[in-house]
Amino acid sequence: MDSISIKEILSTAPKRQQVTVNGWVKTFRSNRFIALNDGSTIHNVQCVVDFEQFDEDLLKQIASGAALKVTGTLVESQGRGQSVEIQANDIFVHGPADPETYPIQPKKHSMEFLREKAHLRIRTNTFAAVMRVRSALSFAVHKYFTDNGFYYFHAPIITGSDAEGAGEMFRVTTLDCKNPPLTEDGEVDHKEDFFGKETNLTVSGQLEAEAYAMGLGKVYTFGPTFRAENSNTSRHLAEFWMIEPEMAFYDLNANMDLAEDFIKGVLSYVLENCADDLAFLEKRLLDEEKTKPQAERSEMALIEKLKFIVDNNFKRVTYTEAIDILRNSKPNKKKKFQYVIDEWGADLQSEHERFLVEKHFKCPVILFDYPAKIKAFYMRLNEDGKTVRAMDILFPGIGEIVGGSQREERLDVLREKMAELDIPEEELWWYLDLRKFGTAVHSGFGLGFERLVLFATGMGNIRDVIPFPRTPQNAEF
Ligand code: 4AD
Ligand code: MG
Repeated sequence: MDSISIKEILSTAPKRQQVTVNGWVKTFRSNRFIALNDGSTIHNVQCVVDFEQFDEDLLKQIASGAALKVTGTLVESQGRGQSVEIQANDIFVHGPADPETYPIQPKKHSMEFLREKAHLRIRTNTFAAVMRVRSALSFAVHKYFTDNGFYYFHAPIITGSDAEGAGEMFRVTTLDCKNPPLTEDGEVDHKEDFFGKETNLTVSGQLEAEAYAMGLGKVYTFGPTFRAENSNTSRHLAEFWMIEPEMAFYDLNANMDLAEDFIKGVLSYVLENCADDLAFLEKRLLDEEKTKPQAERSEMALIEKLKFIVDNNFKRVTYTEAIDILRNSKPNKKKKFQYVIDEWGADLQSEHERFLVEKHFKCPVILFDYPAKIKAFYMRLNEDGKTVRAMDILFPGIGEIVGGSQREERLDVLREKMAELDIPEEELWWYLDLRKFGTAVHSGFGLGFERLVLFATGMGNIRDVIPFPRTPQNAEF
């Protein structure tokens, strides 16, 4: 490559040297100033064009969105807000973008509009900043676990088991939908299917991660997971990425300690490494909030909020304590909650979680020891016989960001639980084997990666922190 990145150019001392950059035109002002961006940084490099030096036909092709190669002299910038600029002496148009039809114009577009142009929205400052932060966060995840003695484990995507037991799965089949083979009872005969059994896209890599933790000690998965829940909210995707560490010999307390340290670790990483993008996103958020009523504005700016998380302890509260707080809360008494809390055992809705975090504790909260009835089959039963060693981490503006637990390691207790929930032992024979051979206390959790990116970037909708979102009725691109 004879060109260098714009990020590099912007930190290069200008000595009238010849440089070449490639990028896309953000704006072209007065037939003279091209703001060029190549995605390497939020900042553009200004290329100054002496229009007498260039062919008119060429200049006509320079419009927002066009891809250019610019060669010129790197000089100290005359304009404000940039250190260097390029005095262009050669411009090559890789590809023009017709201003009549190119949808991404240099003006504010709504997020809804941009979702329909998901293949082009990465050319906007906002999406480029979000996706750079997303990339940095992914790296931080791998770095954190590698630095802490974990092995990266790839859970299968196609699976025969429903880890969460919620039955919200996408079927994987090669059978002819119109004319499937049937059993004598008239059911679809999956024996004739590709895998010889019913299979689905995984909702979680946990069960398989448990098997690997029982040999490698500490493992984590970081991969796509799929849920066919019909939740059209700003916090749900049908395809999302989940990070799931699983650790042998960890109890619930050790699990909570790890989860808190992990979240702080990856957020510190982006604070240190994504300063420019975070500053841009913070300003974007402040501008957006100006349009909202005072009561809905957040009390902290983005970077301050991230630092607050990194610097403060999460509050740990049992489910039972949380229910007491909620029961006696103003919105509950005044019936402002959509679901009024009146009994121990109630499942918490996002309105309750957000009340606890945003109004009551005003910091991240780890709720633990939930009623067994509202949690998955694999969680370890407490001595009281009615709660399990589950924990959820609740975040301001997000609600649940992590769900985890200490796992039931006792064969007899697990069997009883599975029988109670009608989970056939034949389906999970191998999971039961783990309790027969060298079973041990172990724990893990799942963190929804997009919810983390949502929090780190201050974006408002989960569809805007994943490149090509999949949600009910939407799998374009
Ligand atoms: O709480 P969940 O369902 O937990 C599990 O799947 C466990 N097997 C994890 C484990 O212990 N290894 O999901 C974990 C996290 C949630 O806290 C949430 O952040 C995210 O995954 N999540 C979603 N994110 C986006 N869209 C959805 N539809 C999500 N469902 C869960
Ligand atoms: Mg959960």
